[in-house]
Amino acid sequence: LALPGTNGIRLTMESALTARDRVGVQDFVLLENFTSEAAFIENLRKRFKENLIYTYIGSVLVSVNPYKELEIYTKQNMERYRGVSFYEVSPHLYAIADNSYRSLRTERKDQCILISGESGAGKTEATKKILQYYAVTCPASQQVETVKDRLLQSNPVLEAFGNAKTLRNDNSSRFGKYMDVQFDYRGAPVGGHILNYLLEKSRVVHQNHGERNFHIFYQLLEGGEEDLLRRLGLEKNPQQYHYLVKGHCARVSSINDKNDWKIVRRALSIISFNDNEVEDLLSIVASVLHLGNVQFAADEQGNAQVTTENQIKYLGRLLAVEGSVLRDALIHKKIIAKGEELISPLNLEQAAYARDALAKAIYGRTFSWLVNKVNKSLAYKEGEFPGWRSTTVLGLLDIYGFEVFQHNSFEQFCINYCNEKLQQLFIELTLKSEQEEYESEGIAWEPVQYFNNKIICDLVEEKFKGIISILDEECLRPGDATDTTFLEKLEETVKNHPHFLTHKLADQKTRKSLGREEFRLSHYAGDVTYSVAGFLDKNNDLLFRNLKETMCNSENPIINQCFDRTELTDKKRPETAATQFKNSLSKLMEILMSKEPSYIRCMKPNDAKQADRFDEVLIRHQVKYLGLMENLRVRRAGFAYRRKYEVFLQSLGLVTSPPLHCPHLGYKQEEYKMGRTKIFIRFPKTLFATEDALEVRKQSLATKMQATWRGFYRRKKFLHMKHSAIAIQSWWRGTLGRRKAAKKKWAVETIRRFIKGFIYRNHPRCPENEYFLDYIRFSFLMNLKRNLPKNVLDKSWPTPPPSLCEASQLLRQLCMQNMVWTYCKRISPEWKQQLEQKVIASEIFKGKKDNYPQSVPRLFINTRLGNEEINAKVLQALENEAIKYAVPVIKYDRKGYKARARQLLLTQNAVVIVEESKIKQRIDYANLTGISVSSLSDNLFVLHVHCEDNKQKGDVVLQSDHVIETLTKTAIQADKVNNVNINQGSIKFTVGQGKEGIIDFISGSELLIAKAKNGHLTVVAPRLNSR
Ligand SMILES: Nc1ncnc2c1ncn2[C@@H]1O[C@H](COP(=O)(O)OP(=O)(O)OP(=O)(O)O)[C@@H](O)[C@H]1O
Ligand SMILES: [Mg+2]
Repeated sequence: LALPGTNGIRLTMESALTARDRVGVQDFVLLENFTSEAAFIENLRKRFKENLIYTYIGSVLVSVNPYKELEIYTKQNMERYRGVSFYEVSPHLYAIADNSYRSLRTERKDQCILISGESGAGKTEATKKILQYYAVTCPASQQVETVKDRLLQSNPVLEAFGNAKTLRNDNSSRFGKYMDVQFDYRGAPVGGHILNYLLEKSRVVHQNHGERNFHIFYQLLEGGEEDLLRRLGLEKNPQQYHYLVKGHCARVSSINDKNDWKIVRRALSIISFNDNEVEDLLSIVASVLHLGNVQFAADEQGNAQVTTENQIKYLGRLLAVEGSVLRDALIHKKIIAKGEELISPLNLEQAAYARDALAKAIYGRTFSWLVNKVNKSLAYKEGEFPGWRSTTVLGLLDIYGFEVFQHNSFEQFCINYCNEKLQQLFIELTLKSEQEEYESEGIAWEPVQYFNNKIICDLVEEKFKGIISILDEECLRPGDATDTTFLEKLEETVKNHPHFLTHKLADQKTRKSLGREEFRLSHYAGDVTYSVAGFLDKNNDLLFRNLKETMCNSENPIINQCFDRTELTDKKRPETAATQFKNSLSKLMEILMSKEPSYIRCMKPNDAKQADRFDEVLIRHQVKYLGLMENLRVRRAGFAYRRKYEVFLQSLGLVTSPPLHCPHLGYKQEEYKMGRTKIFIRFPKTLFATEDALEVRKQSLATKMQATWRGFYRRKKFLHMKHSAIAIQSWWRGTLGRRKAAKKKWAVETIRRFIKGFIYRNHPRCPENEYFLDYIRFSFLMNLKRNLPKNVLDKSWPTPPPSLCEASQLLRQLCMQNMVWTYCKRISPEWKQQLEQKVIASEIFKGKKDNYPQSVPRLFINTRLGNEEINAKVLQALENEAIKYAVPVIKYDRKGYKARARQLLLTQNAVVIVEESKIKQRIDYANLTGISVSSLSDNLFVLHVHCEDNKQKGDVVLQSDHVIETLTKTAIQADKVNNVNINQGSIKFTVGQGKEGIIDFISGSELLIAKAKNGHLTVVAPRLNSR
């Protein structure tokens, strides 16, 4: 990939990295001009306008409060971020949350997410959204659901007691909160713990104009049931209570106290408050309101007297103390000096102070008790999650951001000190992790120039010399210590510090901007001027001893826990507020140091809490004191961009395997470094140029990649098919081979059985020969089946094996019977007649007359002369008699044996000899006595007639070409079958009137019929071959 020159390439061109939201850059490290605050703000503005409220500085998330509901916190969105690499999706809270969670799970290292920003910037919202993210995406079970519920529900309770409406935020957290969420080895939340920091107690007794007291007071009055309020001696009207009306805005349209009350009440039961505990807690809340209404009047000596007995009555009941004791404690001061108790009355001012101090103490301690109680409910209970050994924790720090007001007091001092510490931690950890990353990647560490704010932290917290030490000292010192003496002491001790300034220490020019009661600290985020007024009081946080004692005697269980008797006997002075805060901060730093941090920097776009308004001045201010430019500078000091090789290549849409050779990308030596697992790119422009070049080459690359992929895909498919084909082939070949082998084996066995069977064939049936015999039988039968005789004349028959001789015989008979039967069934009447005639002919002539065999194959014809061939007169004469058979014959005269052509007709009753139209002779069958023929092959025959009959002319000598047929028919017709004589040698016949004629038959070469000399008729019949 050769890069074209960077000239002409739009440097700001969006890349695949930011393709998901192409507005500005989604990571400030990609800003070309990273030192320009204007460019920074412009990028923020551009994105804010498009509702892109999140932007990264490396791994730090910058968030701008949209002041409107955005559709980016849906369940689908949560799923989108779950388990996805940090830079793959657009910047989001969820990306930070998921990243921390994944590190926690994979490295089993505790994590923390530090959320900072000024009031109203969205820290608390961010915390809640992160908690929700875990509640939705972490694995769950019945017990885990309970823990999740408690974690989520602890928020409304703590917010009710610790949040208030301020000028900047309708739901401003008035305490710092650090929350640990414990995860088990499966990554399910199983417990939690909350640390609270510096509740703004002064709000209980005083609120600035436009601000309110803590939400709980208003919620109780608005939402509490009448019964409850009566028990607490309260009226539904907040205007009735001095502590609620200092800011003149008890009711605010943007806050629905009634509804919030319901939420809080429900949440209380979820975090395991029983009804008694709720009642005790609310009694305390009510007691604070009553305390606020306690009024004093001065007596003659100027000593304060309580004028509101009713209030004392309620207080006695609610706090479960003796009313009179409380009344006395409110207007007296008890001092123990040298073991002796001295009680002195208070003047009006002192009494009011004592009252307010008590209210603050009660509320403050109850708040701490509440946090403890929540902690008990959130505590990881080994018993509930048996076997879930070690847990890892993820901390969420929602702490007040840097604050600069017109008048900054002790609270701002503490808050800004806290931010100073966090900034230090941030720098240390960021630099540390930066350095560690360089080291682990094997890249030489390049020192980063940054402002180390340790000097400011030291200024505040150093022992003996620090501001807190000096303040404490002033508080403890006997004598008349005042806020002013504290300031003087400060000036004295830290006068040469470069970050400290007072009116007295300032030069002419700056002096004007400083009051005489003020000191200025140059914080890392800018200068803040603090007014010392109230510093000592607030730091002392004093509650007179007799008030403390009264509280210690309370029977309200909560108050009882809040005010411990050991406090009274403890000779040591309690720690001052500042020292307490310092110590808790140092503990917090330890906690945070032991964890892997992630940062969310929240900003508010305007002071009006309005959507779509981007106040550049306000934003610039926040960018400055959040130290974002510093942050960016540190991050960009070395390399603007670093990614794991795979991720880098992926983000460019490339698929190659590392190691990657940057010279191929056209990078110059100083533009990049190759770490062990990451590429470091110094300037964003290098990256953009790569992306642009890639854009240009994308087409051809895409084609190439496509071709390669297709080739690969096809080849894979081909190889798969080839492999399959071979598999099928070999399987099939195997099958065929096996089949052949089985066949061979079978064949061998069969042959063997055959041979054995053959050897044993003559034995009686035994295992050795049974197959053979069966086979022989079978094959004989099969052969027989194929070769059965076709007709009765077919005498062929397969030779049976010895064992089947009898069966064969029976079968043969059966077969013959069957054939005969079939034949008979098929025979027609005509044919039957024919056969019957043939049978009769056979009976008569077979073996007796020489020319009989020649007649056998010739069919007998019904008649040899049709009616048309017979003279009509004859037919007429025979009118009544049907002619059964007619045949031309030759008649030999009785005397001369002259041959004459005649027709022989057989009727029903007689043989008729016809000459043309004349019936020459009629021989009734009754008169026919017999028929004679020779045994030779001639055709002569004699019909013998009864001689008694005179009309008869005697026997008739005739010759028919079809002598067998003619005679058979005549014999049948005349019923003279048994009267046919076959003569050897000669035949005698009568010739009218008793005379006899003789016909001699001899065999010769050819037929000759003639009258012999002896007067006999001699017939020479040809010898036939068949004879
Ligand atoms: N991500 C967000 N989406 C919509 N609205 C938001 C978002 N973040 C904050 N807000 C709005 O801004 C208001 C103030 O936010 P939040 O209470 O979180 O501020 P904060 O930083 O905790 O302030 P403080 O320091 O006073 O506690 C919220 O009540 C809400 O109306
Ligand atoms: Mg908050």
